[in-house]
Amino acid sequence: MLIDTHCHLLSSEYDDVDKEIKEALKGGVDKIIINGFDVASSNEAVALSKRYPEVYAAVGIGPENVNATSDDDIKKIKELASNEKVVAIGEIGLDYYWTKENKEKQNSVFKDMLRIAKEMNLPVIVHSRQAIQDTYDLLTEYNVTGILHCYSGSVEMAKEFIKKGFLIGVGGVVTFKNAKTLKNVVKETSLDDISLETDSPYLSPEPFRGKTNNPSKLRYIIKEIALLKGVSEKEVTDRTSLAVTSKFDL
Ligand code: NI
Repeated sequence: MLIDTHCHLLSSEYDDVDKEIKEALKGGVDKIIINGFDVASSNEAVALSKRYPEVYAAVGIGPENVNATSDDDIKKIKELASNEKVVAIGEIGLDYYWTKENKEKQNSVFKDMLRIAKEMNLPVIVHSRQAIQDTYDLLTEYNVTGILHCYSGSVEMAKEFIKKGFLIGVGGVVTFKNAKTLKNVVKETSLDDISLETDSPYLSPEPFRGKTNNPSKLRYIIKEIALLKGVSEKEVTDRTSLAVTSKFDL
């Protein structure tokens, strides 16, 4: 069972989402969680999940899209979250690298999203960039669990999140030569606490770095993790998938 837990196949970087899904399935991916990042993309993710049995949706408003968020948008996300194939609230979180100027708005929308996750009893898929402590504090306050997508923190912080029941989301960055910290995190983290993701169309693994990504490229991420941990690719695939299906209703 091969699962891409985080991709944005509704990104404007793609001309044809159906083509991307077909390529992913042909490449051996069994299940795909398409993450929304605002109301429109969350809505479309839900619609796609109804068309493909292999596709699931995460709905939410991400930190890069909080500025224009209204109370009505928050309400719409909550409505969408009740769809049968919505398996998480995501992509949500904090990004102080992108901008610190709207820190308050980012925090307020993130809290709204966490409240929905709590009320709907859904896990979360969290983006955190240069905001790891604030992220940790809010996830603790709302007592939710899920995936820390595209994890970029330290080994010590990863351990703290794992204690809270989070999975460490690992994607194409792990194949980059300079990703020493992440490679170390992977070495030090049990496969039972890792989830795989491509973040398509972004972050293509080597040897495709810089090109448009597709979930079928998960196999390059698996190959690297297997090398780092000295286990078979099958073991990486099986244990990370089990980690995901034990938390997400896929
Ligand atoms: Ni993402």
